[in-house]
Amino acid sequence: MSSISSLVVFGATGTQGHPVVDAALQAGLDVRAVSRDVDKAEEQLSSRAQVFQADLLEPETVAEAMSGMDAAFFYLPVMPHSPSAQAMVESVVAGARTSGLQRLVFTSSAWFGPGMPSGPFVDGLRAVSGRLLEIDVETVVLRPTLYLANLVWPHIIREIRDYGRLSYPPLDAGRCLNWTATEDQAAVAVACLDAGVAGEIIDVASPEPVTGPDLCRLLVSVYGREVHYDPQTVEEFADTLSHMAGSAEIGRTVAGLYEGFNALAEDGPLVDTEALERRFGIRLTPVSEWVEQRLGALLDRYGTPSN
Ligand SMILES: NC(=O)c1ccc[n+]([C@@H]2O[C@H](COP(=O)([O-])OP(=O)(O)OC[C@H]3O[C@@H](n4cnc5c(N)ncnc54)[C@H](OP(=O)(O)O)[C@@H]3O)[C@@H](O)[C@H]2O)c1
Repeated sequence: MSSISSLVVFGATGTQGHPVVDAALQAGLDVRAVSRDVDKAEEQLSSRAQVFQADLLEPETVAEAMSGMDAAFFYLPVMPHSPSAQAMVESVVAGARTSGLQRLVFTSSAWFGPGMPSGPFVDGLRAVSGRLLEIDVETVVLRPTLYLANLVWPHIIREIRDYGRLSYPPLDAGRCLNWTATEDQAAVAVACLDAGVAGEIIDVASPEPVTGPDLCRLLVSVYGREVHYDPQTVEEFADTLSHMAGSAEIGRTVAGLYEGFNALAEDGPLVDTEALERRFGIRLTPVSEWVEQRLGALLDRYGTPSN
């Protein structure tokens, strides 16, 4: 029987945090949603969540946010090898200890599993995860693959809508991999509060591994036009991301992740999603369903292919 009845979610307004807030509320937990901007968070999140102001770079506010809570979910909104990341991790570690947290769920936000070559991003994720798993608070690390949410980056939508071209991810056309819906990551995160998972790194993904061309075939129905996979090179992707992030260093660093995927000997990253569903008693979202329902709804809401 679990004694976890409350969860504090850091990054609650973000792509990864928001679904965790929703899944935890759905599971009947008391949820404290952390943001640096209370007004923004109250506007975005369910009124059933208690919005709380804290900053991962301000340790005392992190401890306050954890105070009286059973468990915490967090991820790094910065590059894992940066000094800011280290400071954020140490804030969380100190807060977890002083507040008597029972369980910490961290998502690495990216995949650094077996076969991934060393590089600043992957090494940073390995180091942060290792650090968290050595603390004396029960911790689990989720290790997701590529987020399906990346498919709503504005330039990707524009290129598909205007040219029928999917230029992302910058991977070989034959490479088959599991993508991850952030809603599925959230379902696993909440299930982890109850399960005997402390000390583990758990690969997270959504069912239905696809290649770039497979994904294009799924996109046809929501875009109502032919879509061809014409991936950027990793260098081109680094450039694009540098512009998006306003930082050449971030562009280069994240591009290393895709270089790593391309270097994996077989397909991948691939995750046994059936085993994940069985272990946690949850249903995950097949990629075709995510495209049809989630992406379809997002395109309707934020810009249909015709406008
Ligand atoms: N695997 C993939 O496909 C993939 C794709 C994209 C990104 N990522 C990774 O995901 C991470 C970013 O996650 P995301 O895309 O979910 O982020 P996001 O949507 O950009 O949101 C960032 C969140 O972090 C919070 N935040 C930022 N600075 C903070 C601070 N100092 N203290 C407390 N909260 C802070 C923000 O909250 P407030 O502004 O409300 O305070 C916001 O909720 C990065 O590590 C990135 O590398 C992975």
